[in-house]
Amino acid sequence: MADIDPSAFGARAESMIHILGSVSAEPKRLVRRFLSPEHRRAADIVASWMQEEGLSVSEDALGTVRGHWPGSGAMRLLIGSHIDTVVDAGMFDGPFGVIAGILAAGHFARAKNRLPFGIDVLAFGDEEGSRFPATLASSTACAGIFNMASLDLADRDGETLAQAIAHYGKSVADIPAAAYPRDQAAAYVEVHIEQGPVLEHRNQPLGVVTSIAGQTYLNVELFGEAGHAGTVPMLLRRDALAGAAEIILLAEKLARDSKGDVVATVGHLDITAKASNVVAGHVVLIADIRSGSESARAQFVERFKTEMRAIAERRYLGLLVTTTREVPTTPCDPRLQEGFAAALGGQPVKLASGAGHDGTAMAKLCPIGMLFVRCRGGISHNPAEYASPADMGLAVAALIRFIEGFKP
Ligand code: GLV
Ligand code: MN
Ligand code: MN
Repeated sequence: MADIDPSAFGARAESMIHILGSVSAEPKRLVRRFLSPEHRRAADIVASWMQEEGLSVSEDALGTVRGHWPGSGAMRLLIGSHIDTVVDAGMFDGPFGVIAGILAAGHFARAKNRLPFGIDVLAFGDEEGSRFPATLASSTACAGIFNMASLDLADRDGETLAQAIAHYGKSVADIPAAAYPRDQAAAYVEVHIEQGPVLEHRNQPLGVVTSIAGQTYLNVELFGEAGHAGTVPMLLRRDALAGAAEIILLAEKLARDSKGDVVATVGHLDITAKASNVVAGHVVLIADIRSGSESARAQFVERFKTEMRAIAERRYLGLLVTTTREVPTTPCDPRLQEGFAAALGGQPVKLASGAGHDGTAMAKLCPIGMLFVRCRGGISHNPAEYASPADMGLAVAALIRFIEGFKP
């Protein structure tokens, strides 16, 4: 059996991160959307790495690249993350988990070491939801819970998910076949950068995840009356953008009042007819609300909706609120947490994930577990995102030790 050399794994991971990080729709920033030409290029690179490591490669109807190392039994350990990105992304969010899986599975495949279970490394393509107003299409398909209604959702250019799947050379008729049989999926595990500051503060390279926070996405549309910025008197305006501004501050206030239970963000705002000399008649914003507590999130959403209605009434605005995403808080399996703790050799830092992950979908199929890697300054969804080669090497080594100790 080959030795585990964390620094060699770290150096390889870093070079692979840079290769994937150069695959972008834009020259000056990293943008890789689901089922785009860049997704295709990244998927081909991932597939070639899997082949080099001795894994057999396939791709499902949602473009998930799967690298398989067979075991002596029918059960499989699934290891994955995503290769799509947010707009102006860092290089580590998603790709490092795929790379860690490839290097760890390759460790066994190169040594022709058959385990009692097979290993499938999964490179999902839709975790960030940066193309369609939905997310986790690829992992929900693997978990057998893909929402067929989402095929009609359109991207900003009007292309539907069904059309994008066809353009990518796949068929929606094959989506059901992407689902793993329940009696084959032993567990799903994912290595991911922390995207927060806890491990850095605790001076630890790695930590074991206890749960993934639940999320609600509200699409909020405000209908006012467009008008001339120079002529409509202030008291006669029905300014949809001014109403949106109040709603954004309301989200911030309610989240601050929750004393850490809930975080709420408005990071998307569309002014339909944007011009500096026009009172805005129609505005759309998306509120992203997250919490580790189901009840805290539900209470927040109820109060937020009530107070949004009051703002709209006071300003004589129409209001349409649609829930576009509802993901429950997902606990990580205690046995898998113990497996990662044993792989880290003692009493590791345990922490909850505020960020969403493919594991929330995969948890509908099988137990899930996650390992977090320290990232500099806790910065993520930002080109400054960084994890050191040393920490990445330790993560790959820990994943290998986890696999060695895993019992389906
Ligand atoms: C994905 O990164 C998310 O948490 O939104
Ligand atoms: Mn991610
Ligand atoms: Mn992300």
